[in-house]
Amino acid sequence: MDIQEARARAGSNIALVKYWGKRDEALNLPATGSLSITLDTLHTDTRLVPDPSLAADQFELNGRPADPARLRAFLDRFRALAGREGHFQVISSNSFPTSAGLASSASAFAALAVAANRAFGLDLSPTRLSELARQGSGSAARSIFGGFVEMARGEAPDGSDCVARPLAPAEHWPLEVVVAVTSEEAKSVSSSEGMRRTMRTSPYYPAWVEQVDRDLALARESILSRDFAALADVAEASALAMHASALAARPGVIYFKPATLACLERVRELRASGLDVFFTVDAGPQVKAICRPEHRRPVADALAELPGVHRVLEARLGPGAVELP
Ligand code: ADP
Ligand code: DP6
Ligand code: CO
Repeated sequence: MDIQEARARAGSNIALVKYWGKRDEALNLPATGSLSITLDTLHTDTRLVPDPSLAADQFELNGRPADPARLRAFLDRFRALAGREGHFQVISSNSFPTSAGLASSASAFAALAVAANRAFGLDLSPTRLSELARQGSGSAARSIFGGFVEMARGEAPDGSDCVARPLAPAEHWPLEVVVAVTSEEAKSVSSSEGMRRTMRTSPYYPAWVEQVDRDLALARESILSRDFAALADVAEASALAMHASALAARPGVIYFKPATLACLERVRELRASGLDVFFTVDAGPQVKAICRPEHRRPVADALAELPGVHRVLEARLGPGAVELP
């Protein structure tokens, strides 16, 4: 069969219990499990166009040539599985800032996995695609699925049980998300580098690893029983502990801007005033406020008016990664 042109879309995701650190860099195996929500309006669209004249994959992101190194290595795994050569023009777009702490690597590698599966006619299961996506970026394993998703740490040395699985569909608990964008720029320390430095040098890293299983159990339970206060508590604690471990690295990894902290303070004020909202922050300066649908408007308005907040993005829980016609 010919190698086909293929397209896919995947939503980015936000971890409520964070992944921060690896137990195997070559296989990209996380040190701990993690738990996330997949988003609808923050997504990556990727088209793979086979081109027999190419000796290596080419990459265009948001209309401009971009560094293809990471996706070439990723597509090599699919070429090996298919037993085929064949290179692509990879044409992709992100609907939100790239490399800025909004999980572009998650939606990117999930979309690439789904598109490559089709292009090579591999017919892999979502679980296998999650395992492959993980090798591109750990958080990408979760973006294969929609709604609430849990990523297992796994035990197998080859990483075959290190996959994500759906915990509950979006309809189970239709939470919404307001993203306060405080900088559109690419971060200076990538997620991979930030966690590597934290693992190697932070005295708080072992304490972080020790905390995660307990947080996962609390988050899972609070989602299944729709206990907003309990989820708020564990999600904020997970995000702050991740950043605490990174801040204590040498040199310290600082993802916050002044406006990041202002947003955290405002979210806590809003919650004290009776709105159901909590925050989380990933490897970047943006603040994600997770809230009930009826509270999204006041949360978005309150964050948008803070100095240093460039704009707010709004999202609901979204579906898993899909092929596009
Ligand atoms: P983020 O916080 O956005 O996930 P990371 O440092 O984890 O930041 O990952 C950013 C990297 O993800 C980029 O340098 C690039 O290699 C990859 N990436 C982002 N968007 C795409 C895309 N649409 N297609 C392929 N790779 C992408
Ligand atoms: C803070 O998945 O981007 O967003 O596996 O090295 O690509 P790599 O890292 P990545 O790290 C995500 C870190 C985080 C937390 C999370 O999404 O769980
Ligand atoms: Co990332």
